[in-house]
Amino acid sequence: MAAESSEKWILNVTAQTPTNIAVIKYWGKRDEDLILPINDSISVTLDPNHLCTTTSVAVSPAFTQDRMWLNGKEVSLSGGRYQNCLRELRSRASDFEDEKKGIKITKKNWEKLHVHVVSYNNFPTAAGLASSAAGLACLVFSLAKLMNVKEDHSKLSAIARQGSGSACRSLYGGFVKWIMGKEENGSDSIAVQLADEKHWDDLVIIIAVVSSRQKETSSTSGMRDSVETSPLIKHRAKEVVPKRIIEMEEVIRKRDFPAFARLTCADSNQFHAVCLDTLPPIFYMNDTSHRIISCVEKWNRHEGSPQVAYTFDAGPNAVLISHNRKAATLLLQRLLFYFPPKSDTDLNSYVIGDKTILKDAG
Ligand code: ADP
Ligand code: DP6
Ligand code: CO
Repeated sequence: MAAESSEKWILNVTAQTPTNIAVIKYWGKRDEDLILPINDSISVTLDPNHLCTTTSVAVSPAFTQDRMWLNGKEVSLSGGRYQNCLRELRSRASDFEDEKKGIKITKKNWEKLHVHVVSYNNFPTAAGLASSAAGLACLVFSLAKLMNVKEDHSKLSAIARQGSGSACRSLYGGFVKWIMGKEENGSDSIAVQLADEKHWDDLVIIIAVVSSRQKETSSTSGMRDSVETSPLIKHRAKEVVPKRIIEMEEVIRKRDFPAFARLTCADSNQFHAVCLDTLPPIFYMNDTSHRIISCVEKWNRHEGSPQVAYTFDAGPNAVLISHNRKAATLLLQRLLFYFPPKSDTDLNSYVIGDKTILKDAG
């Protein structure tokens, strides 16, 4: 066996993964351990140059336990979700050999070797901008590279799903669908790409960071409470989302912006209605989020046809999708007028898909 503690080598891999924002939301699980959802969802993966996670993973015979540092602080890797991903990946690891460095790791050794993970999100963590999606997708992707796992993106998406549901969609760019699947073991609950990043490249996404504070109710516990107590979530999963998924796929295929905006806004609003319908009610949006919705709704009505779509994940921060660069410029002007950075609204604006990044509020 080459991987012995007396040996002094370290093997490492670094990867970067963008976050994704759902336009038809995932909210509710039918299986908590395997992370199987109660409905399909569709998302758009953001430009990897902006909101993303960077993760370095390393393996060495000198490591005595699995350890992880997130945004500079050590966090535990012992949680069931991290361990499920690690187990799935270790069982698929392949032999690795680097003769020059004298490293040889057999399939069996991977089970015994420990990993160290250092991860950094360049955007607020646990604030409703899908850090768990970028974070877990990046973790699975980088570990798969390190361990020489020979599986395609579809299989890796099913592993990332077991870390955080939304993470399965971040392994692809463009528009992505997470198929809920039917199998009890989750083998068909995977992400598929609906359209690549070039398909609808007129769209410009602006993220208004209303608050970068960590949310009080994590997505995991929020959706668990909704499944247990909300009558509306059942109607949503059974009657509403299946129709919206079919419509959204068609709208994306045709690049029909007005229909895309109407569906995206309606689905965000229904997701937050489910949160209100939960006992005790969950308030992810705040007054500033509500003012942003009113502002966009008024503008869209004034223009006669939607120019901007809004969607809010499990947090107060607005994801605004504009039809094109012209609409994005006008939107940014309005945002800066009504929500000036450094005001009491605590608002930063990030422009995605552009080189401009406004990040002023402190
Ligand atoms: P968000 O809306 O940001 O996705 P969640 O409540 O879904 O919030 O998940 C936040 C949790 O995801 C964090 O507390 C952390 O456990 C995990 N997470 C976030 N970023 C990373 C990362 N880069 N690597 C590993 N885990 C991460
Ligand atoms: C509102 O994927 O963060 O962002 O599977 O428990 O980790 P877990 O939850 P998570 O939930 C995301 C919820 C959402 C909608 C979405 O991304 O589809
Ligand atoms: Co999340």
